[in-house]
Amino acid sequence: MSGFFISFEGNEGSGKSTQIGLLAERLRRAGWSVTQLREPGGTPIGEEIRHTLKHSSANHAMTPETELLLMNASRAQLVREVIRPALAGGHVVLCDRFYDSTVVYQGYGRGLPMNLVLSIIEAAVGETRPDLTLLLDIPLATSELRRISRQGSQPAVRDRFEEAERSFFERIERGYRQIAAADPRRIQVVDATRAVAEVHEAIWQWVAARLPAPARGAR
Ligand SMILES: Nc1ncnc2c1ncn2[C@@H]1O[C@H](COP(=O)(O)OP(=O)(O)OP(=O)(O)O)[C@@H](O)[C@H]1O
Ligand SMILES: [Mg+2]
Repeated sequence: MSGFFISFEGNEGSGKSTQIGLLAERLRRAGWSVTQLREPGGTPIGEEIRHTLKHSSANHAMTPETELLLMNASRAQLVREVIRPALAGGHVVLCDRFYDSTVVYQGYGRGLPMNLVLSIIEAAVGETRPDLTLLLDIPLATSELRRISRQGSQPAVRDRFEEAERSFFERIERGYRQIAAADPRRIQVVDATRAVAEVHEAIWQWVAARLPAPARGAR
C-alpha cells in the first residue's frame, strides 16, 4: 500500500494553511486517511527546532548555514518518524512547505551555494519526495497585504522571516518561478489571487486527477 505525498509552497500569506485545511477536509469526506503536517515541525523534536528557528529570542545571531542545517534536521526527523510510515500506511500526506522552501529560502533567499543546499536536502529526505507540489502564486503586494491584515487579528508577533527585507522576498518570488519552470511535472502553479473557494476547487481538480485510483476509498 502506498499513499500520496502533496506539498504546498508559496510565499507568506499565499493561502497554504487555508487551502491545506480545506483539502484535508475534502479528502477525508472522500474516504481518505489524511496526515496533515507543517515544516519546520511536525514531530516533538521538529517543533523544538521550529521554535529555535522562528521565535527564540536567541535566533537573531543565526547564520544561514545553521538555518539550513536546522531546517533539514527537522525534516530528517519528520520524514522518518511520520511521512514514510504514513505513506506506507496508504495515507495522503499534506505538508505545509517541504524541501522546495529550503531551495528557495536558504538558496535563492539567503544565497547559500545551491549544491550545498541540495546535498543537505538529499541527506534529509533521500527518496522521499512529493508526488505533487502545489505552488500558490500571489504577487508580492498581495502577500504583504494579507500578512498585514492577518496581524490585525493577532498579537503582532513577527517571526524572523517576516522581518527580512523586501529584496529577500523578491528573490523568493523569483526562486519559486524558476523551480516551477524547471519541474513542471511535479510542481503545479495555482493562481491564488482568486477567492478561497475558487482556489480550493482548482486544487481539488489537480489532486483528484493525480490521486492513485486503486487506493481510492479503500480505507
Ligand atoms: N484566496 C484568498 N483570498 C483572500 N484572502 C485569503 C485567501 N487565502 C487566504 N487568505 C487570507 O490570507 C491570510 C493568509 O492565509 P494563510 O495563513 O492561509 O497563508 P499561508 O500561506 O499559510 O501563510 P504563511 O506562509 O504565513 O503561513 C489569512 O488571513 C487568510 O484568511
Ligand atoms: Mg501558513
